[in-house]
Amino acid sequence: MSAQATVIPSGHEFFVEGAESILEAGLRGGLALNYGCSNGNCGLCKIRVVSGETRKIKHHDYALTEAEKGIGYMLGCCNTAISDVVLEADEAQSSKDIPTQNIPIRIKKIDHPAADVLIVSTRTPRTSRLRFLAGQRATLSIDQVGSGFYPIASCPCDDMNLQFHIGLDKQDPVANYLDESAKANDLLTLEGPVGSFVLNENSSNPLVFIAEGIGFASIKGLIEHAMALDVAEKIFLFWIADSDDSHYLNNLCRAWNDALDNFEYIPLDAEAGEHPGDSILEQLQQDDPAGFDYYLCSGDKIRAGVEKFFDSQAIPKKQVMFETL
Ligand code: FES
Repeated sequence: MSAQATVIPSGHEFFVEGAESILEAGLRGGLALNYGCSNGNCGLCKIRVVSGETRKIKHHDYALTEAEKGIGYMLGCCNTAISDVVLEADEAQSSKDIPTQNIPIRIKKIDHPAADVLIVSTRTPRTSRLRFLAGQRATLSIDQVGSGFYPIASCPCDDMNLQFHIGLDKQDPVANYLDESAKANDLLTLEGPVGSFVLNENSSNPLVFIAEGIGFASIKGLIEHAMALDVAEKIFLFWIADSDDSHYLNNLCRAWNDALDNFEYIPLDAEAGEHPGDSILEQLQQDDPAGFDYYLCSGDKIRAGVEKFFDSQAIPKKQVMFETL
């Protein structure tokens, strides 16, 4: 059974499947709902049921007051929906609404998709998940080794399974330790999230993502979040890299391209002089470039070139988000 949930005042909608909690379903749907422990202890996931029926699925220690219960409040992490519901809930509007968290996370696995890139898959404790917005970063620390600041390359809709893409750099002790010595189940400390390179959820414009090399890490989180929200009519991904090996998740991007009607993946070869600006114009064809929102994560040289393109097309500044590698 699935029930439709509509959130006010945002108007966001999502489906609650079976007996999953309203909080889980909302996060899976890409909403930045307010929450903390996911376990009935903190009360941060308090939501008011405006209409429809919910059912308690988990005991909770947090006690709602009689006044709160009287006007329909319940805990999103401990209740499911048994009919279509309208819910009044807080959602993060920007990175300022997300508190800094300190969380011990465990390594699940480390992959080497290219000679100079590691993909570190980690897991948070069930009761201490990371609340973040797609595109943000976090500091990872390892006892006796040091700390590094890395993009979170996954979607907030899966807040227990966090992925990091880390470039191998001799000056980065954390990257070297992860490459040479770390193993599954090792403990890291995460502090974050930080950063404002996040989706503008108030816009329903089609989206253009541009990544250079490992800048794909932040872009991947944003794309997965945009897919979860399912509001963009079209999504283009331009990934510029030195050689085929540097498009280190080429297969994932091709799979998105093949599976989704509204998704186009265009890998660009920097060595062959392929430039995002020319390619964007070619791909958008009859569409007006000024009707898109743009998210770019690159080094300064690519950024300068893309900025010229934006100026030439009179792209409004509010439709462009940059993150520097
Ligand atoms: S998230 Fe803490 S009580 Fe629901």
